[in-house]
Amino acid sequence: MHKPIRKAIFPVAGLGTRFLPATKAMPKEMLTVVDRPVIQHVVDEAREAGIEHLIFVTGRNKHVIEDHFDVQFELERTLTERGKRHELEMLAHDQPGAGATSFTRQQLPLGLGHAVWCARDIVGDEPFALVLPDMLHHGNRGCLAKMIEAYNEVGGNHVAVFEVPDSQTNQYGIVGRGKDTGKGAFEITEMVEKPPRGTAPSNLAISGRYILQPEIFDLLAKQGKGAGGEIQLTDSMLKLAEAQPFYGVVFDGKIYDTGSKIGFLTANVAYALARDDIAPGFRVELEKLLKR
Ligand code: G1P
Repeated sequence: MHKPIRKAIFPVAGLGTRFLPATKAMPKEMLTVVDRPVIQHVVDEAREAGIEHLIFVTGRNKHVIEDHFDVQFELERTLTERGKRHELEMLAHDQPGAGATSFTRQQLPLGLGHAVWCARDIVGDEPFALVLPDMLHHGNRGCLAKMIEAYNEVGGNHVAVFEVPDSQTNQYGIVGRGKDTGKGAFEITEMVEKPPRGTAPSNLAISGRYILQPEIFDLLAKQGKGAGGEIQLTDSMLKLAEAQPFYGVVFDGKIYDTGSKIGFLTANVAYALARDDIAPGFRVELEKLLKR
């Protein structure tokens, strides 16, 4: 029996400069894909996978995220007075329980590895999930649920991967593919963060979903700067892989990188077309636009 995955870290300290001026006063994680903030979509994925405790690594100007996951007493009272049952039920459904969220700050933008390390005391000595909110994983079943299923079979460390073209391997962490485990995962032979063009070990990119053992924290504490002058999680994962098994899981749904404008807009269209209440009317408007 492997220790259960109860906690998930969401690094949300990034400045979101690619979306200025939208992100001047509002965190990029609060931009909406249809009518739910990006951060809500990934929290939904984590809760579907059975995650009990949500850990947000925030920064300055991110307190709206904390408010978003709190009870909004005045709003609920007004909705109750107005008999808005549907809205109240939706809020109640999305509401994390008392004590099920933690917030800590990454004081300086030193990289993803540093952001994860900032959550070490809240995670403690147990394996955990790490979810990068920029990357929306859209499928029949959530990516993290699938990963936790694979983890429950074999234990160890897991990352979700997806295939990217040669022209994009320098934008992601890339893994080398070894033997299949026969349980929906494969052994990872190599890991490299943003390899220069033409040097990537494969086209399998880390998609922003991880299950990691707590020994990663000691490695992160000592991790020097890597690609882009930042403390890279991938570099510490490579060291951890010398001592512990690391598996890759290929996500079978669609992945949208909402950190890019085209990815963000495409995600909005895809999520809207997947909604029964919006798709019929939206499709008509889209077709009209495309015919112009
Ligand atoms: C991070 C990780 C990288 C991963 C990517 C997915 O990079 O370091 O390994 O492939 O997220 O989005 P970042 O996007 O923060 O540069």
